[in-house]
Amino acid sequence: MDKKESRRAKEETTRYWRLEGGGNAEVDTVSAEAAADIAEAAQLLRSGGTVAFPTETVYGLGADARNAEAVQAVFAAKGRPSDNPLIVHIADEGGLDGLVADVHPLAARLMEAFWPGPLTLVLPLKPGALPPVVTAGLDTVGIRVPDHPAARALIAAAGCPVAAPSANRSGRPSPTLASHVLEDLAGAIGGVLDGGPAGVGLESTVVQVLEDGTVAVLRPGGVTAERLAAVAGPGAVVAGADAASGNHADPAAALAAEALAAEAAASGGKGAADVPGGSSDALDAPGASGAAEAAAAQAFSVGAPRSPGMKYAHYAPRGRLSIVRGPSPRGAAEVAAALLREAGRAGEKTGLLLFEEHREFYPEHAADCLVSLGSIGLPEQAAHVLYAALRQFDEAGVTYILAEACPAEGLGAAVMNRLVKAAAGRLIDAEAE
Ligand code: TXA
Ligand code: MG
Repeated sequence: MDKKESRRAKEETTRYWRLEGGGNAEVDTVSAEAAADIAEAAQLLRSGGTVAFPTETVYGLGADARNAEAVQAVFAAKGRPSDNPLIVHIADEGGLDGLVADVHPLAARLMEAFWPGPLTLVLPLKPGALPPVVTAGLDTVGIRVPDHPAARALIAAAGCPVAAPSANRSGRPSPTLASHVLEDLAGAIGGVLDGGPAGVGLESTVVQVLEDGTVAVLRPGGVTAERLAAVAGPGAVVAGADAASGNHADPAAALAAEALAAEAAASGGKGAADVPGGSSDALDAPGASGAAEAAAAQAFSVGAPRSPGMKYAHYAPRGRLSIVRGPSPRGAAEVAAALLREAGRAGEKTGLLLFEEHREFYPEHAADCLVSLGSIGLPEQAAHVLYAALRQFDEAGVTYILAEACPAEGLGAAVMNRLVKAAAGRLIDAEAE
């Protein structure tokens, strides 16, 4: 964070603590200086305040989960719809006592394998254990133990379960730096603990273990489906209603159709056709055909477990983002380059998110603002930089953005899930060469 931001934070009454020496995820404990700052932040939490803090996934905005008013302040600061429940963060498994009614043996094995870490388990809430505002009135609660020394030290010092959504304004990309938190929330929250860049860069995986021992992935994230299957057994891990990441012939299209539906609902039924400068273009049919609509209907089907938050427009930069995909990276790049050129001519300020290996497929100056997601073979790099990249486009005033797709495997599944949501479902299919 630079001086200007620090000043702004002060001016706007949001406290700012830079965690010196050991407040970051690379070391296991916090330094004495960091501990003193964390103690102040914990005191603020205990007294009903809101505090943003680093985790190994993204920054969270915490409040004492037992305090309805404090939790309400989190919803207010974010502008978050009240039917979207918060994840409750605990310092270790002991924190489950008194919060949950029952733990399925497989859920216990997942905790054993992945806590602390980027896995949120949706568990049956012990009736009356938390004010209904936390869980949006559901009889389940999402719980995780973050793998970040400052986060765990904060929760332990506060001595309470900490309800914490990502510390962004609702709909914006999640924050991976303290400066992102201040961009969105300075003046609206009590304070922020700056522990440097978040590790994974994308949120936790949200799962629910069903009675029959199936692990439903409600939101793909830092723990991959492959790693879950290694613990739960092959075939035991399925995509939940909203994650649409594994059990459909074209998961991206299913997710896209759902995201389009969400966007259409949010914009009062307007379509979400993707056209530079507002003109229509055949290249640009997002493929929301009958098949995709059917997939959306399936994704919305009743009975399947779901994560309420996934139905909302999310992670969106201010510019209009679309994803270009195709059987050949070169062919997709050619389509993208043509669309960017057209958009530029129509007066748009253009942005491009690409993978390093594909740079050579684009002409020079393919876009006004070009950001690399790293190697296509290393989705953890893309995860780490994706949200900062989307915010970078905002800073540059970009109005039209194209992103390359990556294989939805491993952490790539979570990257594609976030990209499709950020694009509100706008997928552009480039034909084979
Ligand atoms: O990595 C993360 O999970 C970050 C850090 C701060 O821990 N937190 C985060 O929180 O991403 P948030 O609020 O942005 O996303 C929480 C997701 C939403 O999609 C919400 O609907 C889902 O978890 N969720 C929470 N409680 C749930 C429940 N009881 N049942 C189903 N889904 C739930
Ligand atoms: Mg969020």
